[in-house]
Amino acid sequence: MSEIITVAVPKGRLLTESSALFEKALGVSPARLLSGTRKLAATDRASGLRFLSIRAADVASYVEHGAADVGVCGLDVLREEPRDLYEPLDLGIGRCRMIVARPRRARPLPRGVAPRIATKYTRIATEHYARKSLPAEVIHLHGSIEVAPSLGLSDAIVDITETGATLEANGLVIEETVLEISARLVVNRVALKLHPERLRRLVAAMRAAVAAHRG
Ligand code: PRP
Repeated sequence: MSEIITVAVPKGRLLTESSALFEKALGVSPARLLSGTRKLAATDRASGLRFLSIRAADVASYVEHGAADVGVCGLDVLREEPRDLYEPLDLGIGRCRMIVARPRRARPLPRGVAPRIATKYTRIATEHYARKSLPAEVIHLHGSIEVAPSLGLSDAIVDITETGATLEANGLVIEETVLEISARLVVNRVALKLHPERLRRLVAAMRAAVAAHRG
C-alpha cells in the first residue's frame, strides 16, 4: 500500500454533505468512519485515506501547514483568511451567501456618514466597501452578529445567510450580496508534488462525484 493520504473534513453540516461525496467518489464515508468515537482521526486501510475531524475554521490551516494533504473548506474561510493552497474543485455543497443586511425600518444615514458594519468577516467586509469606494467602519464580533443593529452597535451587518430565518427573526433585510459561497476541495502544494498521481486521481474522482450529485 502506498502512503496514507490525510484528509481534513469539517465538523457539522459540511461533514454530512462532504461524506456523501467521498463515499460516491472513493467508497469511504468519513462521517461513518468517525461516528461513535471521540477519536478525531480514523484511517480506512482499503482506500489508504486517513480522515481528520476538524473545526471548519481550522481546516485551511491544517492543509496549508501540511498536517493534512487535502481538506474541505468553505469559500468564506478561504477569502477571509487567504492561504497558500491549491483550490482545484468547487464541491457545490454548503451553499450560502455572504450578505449586507440592515434593519427593515432603518432610516437612511445622512450623506457622507460612514455606516458601522458588524461582522465576523472583517477582511471580506472591508474589501467589499473598498471595492465600492464607500467609507465604512467595520466592527469585529465573534458571533450573534444579527443582534448588533437592534442594540445600536452597528447600522448594518455583513454575515452569512442560508435560509434567511435568522435575519428575519432579527428584523433584518438583505441589502446586497457580497459573495456566493460553497465548499472547496483544497490541497497542500507540497503534497501535490509528493503524490501527484494519487492526488490527481482523488480530485478527478471527487469531480465526477460532484457532477453526478448535480445531475
Ligand atoms: C450562521 C450565520 C447566521 C446563520 C444564518 O451562523 O452567522 O447566524 O448561520 O443562517 P440562516 O440564514 O439559515 O438563518 P452559524 O450557525 O454558522 O453560527 P455562528 O453563530 O457561529 O456564526
